[in-house]
Amino acid sequence: MNDRLKTIVDLEKYPIYDLNSPIIKNLIKKCKEELDQYSCSTIPNFILPKSLKVMNSELEKQLDEVYMSKESINAYLYAKDDPSLPKDHPKRTFMNRYNGYLNSDCFPKDSEMKYLYETEELLKFVSACLGVSPIYRWADPLACHAYNVMKPDGVLPWHFDSCEFTLSLMIQKPEKGGVFEYCPNIREPGNENFKEVQKVIAGDRTRVRQLKLEPGDLQIFKGRFTLHRVTKVEGQKSRYMCIPAYVLDPWRVNTPEHSKAIYGKVLPIHIERNQARSDGLTD
Ligand SMILES: [Fe+2]
Repeated sequence: MNDRLKTIVDLEKYPIYDLNSPIIKNLIKKCKEELDQYSCSTIPNFILPKSLKVMNSELEKQLDEVYMSKESINAYLYAKDDPSLPKDHPKRTFMNRYNGYLNSDCFPKDSEMKYLYETEELLKFVSACLGVSPIYRWADPLACHAYNVMKPDGVLPWHFDSCEFTLSLMIQKPEKGGVFEYCPNIREPGNENFKEVQKVIAGDRTRVRQLKLEPGDLQIFKGRFTLHRVTKVEGQKSRYMCIPAYVLDPWRVNTPEHSKAIYGKVLPIHIERNQARSDGLTD
């Protein structure tokens, strides 16, 4: 068994190093059913309280390096308008976003979160829960396992992720607000479903589900196919998350535009690997 992993994940409750153990087989079955139906599944108290404190302090030590951005953005994470589209097209609906990331390249070498992300145990467990194999760690050096910081009044409007699968680990919960909302499987490769996306953005709640997350919970989520948002953070306390991500394509990274807007910089890899997506979806 991996000695460091057992100080991070509650392996007694969730022995993810043994995918054939009855406990994990049952858990994988439950997660897979939830992911298929709701594109989202939560495993409570996955991270041990002591490790959570380590993650919290590794983020707080570097809060001054968090890239905060405040801008008006559409659900595809673009700020630029396209007047050739109808006025009510979701690409032309811009929403306020106030959010920050501690980029993955800022993490110390022995970082708790980075270590967890790089374990084969976690990768294989997530792959089994999704029922998708192989999946890969994201090649994007800024975004692959970034800490997300939402300060008071922080808000993350409706959007799709550029990576297929996202884990969300809650590190610190705000006093109020900062609630994750999502619309399962609203788009799929080859079908953007703009009409339904626009309805949600305009305020229709029919498809909207809410997720209650507590510190230490692990959420597995199909962020590329599921419109989602985080409501405004209220009170004095920031909301801290870590968002490690997995992808189907081990080569792809964020587009230069996304990287600049969300992570504050563009690296040579973003320019070298800037090619159209093969799934036909906008990002
Ligand atoms: Fe997202």
